[in-house]
Formats: sequence, C-alpha cells, structure tokens
Amino acid sequence: MVNLGDVFPNFDAETTIGPIKFHDWLGDSWGVLFSHPADFTPVCTTELARVVQLHPEFTKRGVKVIALSCDSVETHKKWLNDIQVYAGCASEGFPYPLIADEDRKLATTLQMIDPDERDSDGIPLTARAVFVIDPKKKMRLSILYPATTGRNFDEILRVIDSLQLCDKHKVATPVDWKPQEHVMVQPTVSDEEVKTLFPLLTIVALPSGKNYIRKTPHP
Ligand code: BEZ
Repeated sequence: MVNLGDVFPNFDAETTIGPIKFHDWLGDSWGVLFSHPADFTPVCTTELARVVQLHPEFTKRGVKVIALSCDSVETHKKWLNDIQVYAGCASEGFPYPLIADEDRKLATTLQMIDPDERDSDGIPLTARAVFVIDPKKKMRLSILYPATTGRNFDEILRVIDSLQLCDKHKVATPVDWKPQEHVMVQPTVSDEEVKTLFPLLTIVALPSGKNYIRKTPHP
C-alpha cells in the first residue's frame, strides 16, 4: 500500500513509447498516473480523450501524464487512433504514453483492483486509480474510482494547482476553490506571523469568537 507522502514505487514497464523505469521517466517533473480496466472500452476512451484535450494544461504545470491499461502495447497502439479521433485533436503522435499491464501485476502491486467489478471471465477489474506524484517522487494524491464511474480531470488539475500553491505559501484552499480565488491561511501560522506574511488578511467573525477562518487573496 502506498500512502500519502510515501515515495512512489519505481517500477519497470512496457509502454507505447518503449520500456521505462518510472522514476527516470518522471525526471524532475510532477506526474499523474491513471489506470484503466481494459482497452477499447467506452468510459476509458472518453477519459483518455479528455486527457488528450487537457494535455497542454498538464504540461503548463510541469506535469507528465501516463496511463495504464490492462492490455498489451500492441492493443494499446491500435486503440490510440480511436482516442485521438474521439478527442477531436488530430495532433501528430499521441501526447502521453500508455503502460501495458496485461497480467495486472502492476495493478495488483499498486492495489488498484476492484473486487466487485469483474470481466466476462469473472476476473476482478482494475479500478480507475489516479495518483499525483511530486518532483521528489512522493505520492501527494490518491483517488480510487469504481470501474463504472469516469473521472473528472478538471478536478485533478484543480488539485495540482492547490498542491503547487500550498507548497509555496502557508495557505490551504477552501471548498470548490479555483485559481485566483481567495485562500485560507494555514492554522499553524501564528497571529504575529500572519500580519507580515498576509497583510491583506480578512478574518471571518463566527459565533465561537475564534478567529480561525483567515482569508487572503491568492498569493
Ligand atoms: C468502460 O470503460 O466503459 C468500462 C470498463 C469496465 C467496466 C465498466 C465500464
């Protein structure tokens, strides 16, 4: 089991761009690894196509994207054209690699199996996992969706924006936050420190009289 803050496993894999060692492939970038039950499946196709459309947004944030699906490289390569046509982005080449995991070895190691969803042979499917990994190779986000629910990759970008902002400043992002909206000062910042760090601070008055909701403009 990989927990938040753990170094993400450095696995070897066959991919659509050839063999990789995960940490070497990541280099100094942030990374998103997201998994799929199988190739040529409808929900997966919509998800991979959405990531094709959003790929420039990931690149802008210094994030490398890689998908995993439980089929071979050969099958993946045949699927890529469908995904690109579905995305409506006929760019040259596919913008990110797909890992082959035919025997579900990696899916099992990374605990991505959904025991309740099975294929036609009765074998448990790989769920829709999303992992965000930072440049120090630490896992910063882990979400596991059931095979029947497609993910929202705008939300993944929103979390990356929050992580990158909160790594730089002593802030946290509130419910439904979007970039450029106000953020919260972290509770560990003292009342003395807050005045110098966040001169544009506003404190929300609450019945308890405790001044714990301290808002400041996006740093
Ligand atoms: C799909 O990608 O459409 C899918 C895959 C496995 C189970 C259910 C849906």
